[in-house]
Amino acid sequence: MSRRTVIAGNWKMHKTLGEARELVSGLRQRLEALGSPADRIDVLIFPPATLLFPMAKAIAGSRILMGAQNAHDAAQGAFTGETSMRHVADTGCAHVLVGHSERRHVFGESAEFLARKVVSGLAAGLTVVYCVGETLAEREAGRTEAVVGRHLDEGLSADLDFSRIILAYEPVWAIGTGRTATPQQAQDVHQFIRSHLSKRFGGPVSDGMRVLYGGSVKPDNAAGLLEQRDIDGLLVGGACLSAEDFAAIIGSAVNRARQILS
Ligand code: 13P
Repeated sequence: MSRRTVIAGNWKMHKTLGEARELVSGLRQRLEALGSPADRIDVLIFPPATLLFPMAKAIAGSRILMGAQNAHDAAQGAFTGETSMRHVADTGCAHVLVGHSERRHVFGESAEFLARKVVSGLAAGLTVVYCVGETLAEREAGRTEAVVGRHLDEGLSADLDFSRIILAYEPVWAIGTGRTATPQQAQDVHQFIRSHLSKRFGGPVSDGMRVLYGGSVKPDNAAGLLEQRDIDGLLVGGACLSAEDFAAIIGSAVNRARQILS
């Protein structure tokens, strides 16, 4: 089964408007320079909420897709400071991140809240990038599969439109630490995710699901991760803040696609 590769960049709470314009313009130039089959790779950016409208303009006419890093599950209401999935869709976003470890662990978002966000993101017409992953303590206690399986069970249910869900495995211990999972460590968990999906939702859902890896992805480790059978792309944090580094990571995906085609 061939699944389109996704290279996504989560800007987190970085970049002002001027910096963001510079980043996207640098990225556009570099994307044009990437050879065939660059059109087989989905390139996705997740800017901060205030930048979504101007970044929709900045990416217009390019192949870059955009998503929001977070949104509330309610359609509207008295939720001061929050942004709804419909607000996100309004900006031109096609995607939204749900369940990023920083939302789970820094902001204490509950499993129930995240499950509602998945449903409301889909209802707003968005593709939901749902993140799962264990902490270092959980990995060291041998609980990686139990935690990742629980995250999947909590966030997903059989009635969802799986064609608009992408998963991201982001081990918490690898995020922002410079300590990437080895390609084999990542592949093992991705394989577990695929078999878990197959048991819960059947072979076609499991085969069609794109599962991205995230956690200290850099230009020099992207290729090794992308070679793995069950890794369908990357969710990049720090390295996506530089057009050069992010384009180099996209370049690794283009090279990989070229190898597969030849
Ligand atoms: P880093 O690439 O900076 O480790 O961040 C990963 C991440 O959290 C992407 O969502």
